Amino acid sequence: MELKDYQTAADYIRSKIGNINPKIAIILGSGLGVLTEDFENLIKIKYQDIPGFPVSTVAGHAGELLIGTIDGVPVLAMNGRFHYYEGYSLETATFPIRVFKLLGINDLLLTNASGGINLDYQAGDFMVITDHLSFFAESALRGKNMDEFGPRFPGMSQVYDKELSEKLFDLINKYTQRPHKGVYAYMKGPAYETPAEIRALRILGADAVGMSTVPEAIVAKHCGMRVSGVSCITNMASGIEQKELSHEEVSETANKVKYTFKNIVKDFVKEI
Ligand code: HPA
Repeated sequence: MELKDYQTAADYIRSKIGNINPKIAIILGSGLGVLTEDFENLIKIKYQDIPGFPVSTVAGHAGELLIGTIDGVPVLAMNGRFHYYEGYSLETATFPIRVFKLLGINDLLLTNASGGINLDYQAGDFMVITDHLSFFAESALRGKNMDEFGPRFPGMSQVYDKELSEKLFDLINKYTQRPHKGVYAYMKGPAYETPAEIRALRILGADAVGMSTVPEAIVAKHCGMRVSGVSCITNMASGIEQKELSHEEVSETANKVKYTFKNIVKDFVKEI
């Protein structure tokens, strides 16, 4: 991928949205596409129409960009994201982030469904992502560095912006009274973890585990964006409860809390 590939995609999106300048890009995790209902003046752009954009393969991931206003604030949302487990390279999976940067968007909200590792958590809780673990996975920045976006060896001591994270924490508290801040462990998937892996991740300091978000966060941090992340704990991680994990359980919980999630995100975009 070269700068011109990102630029071509950004130019195409610009041609569709005119002079709208989204204040923030939001990546909607599994089952969280309900935000679509709250857009005014909605413009939808299918991923397949954007030059260079990958196309989503997961059921339940729609595959379109949504641009419009939410309570008057211009917002861009990705309804459907790309995961490494689908077979994309991480360069491809994170392609949209740099396109958003070229569109002049500097704030990013990453959302996801994850498994709870911290035993104080319950299915249906929300956790602000304050840091992550991903040293056992390939980096999205592997390969020739694109100096136009950022340095070869970017610092990662504060990936998730403190101010945005505080705001998320307060809003989770407002809507659920069960706010959490924690460390998200990124796993490549697509199989869920084993109980031994979850015990190991807990010893390493993880509070939740999932298969997304971190590649995007690293690429966004590399190009100087303000990054924030919120995780919906859809299930307790492998081995904690005496039952097998399933995508159905994940979807069911995400579905139950989607309106709470929506309230959090709507207030967030208004207040930042
Ligand atoms: N593990 C990994 N990814 C997930 C989980 C989990 O338990 N729940 C939702 N996404």
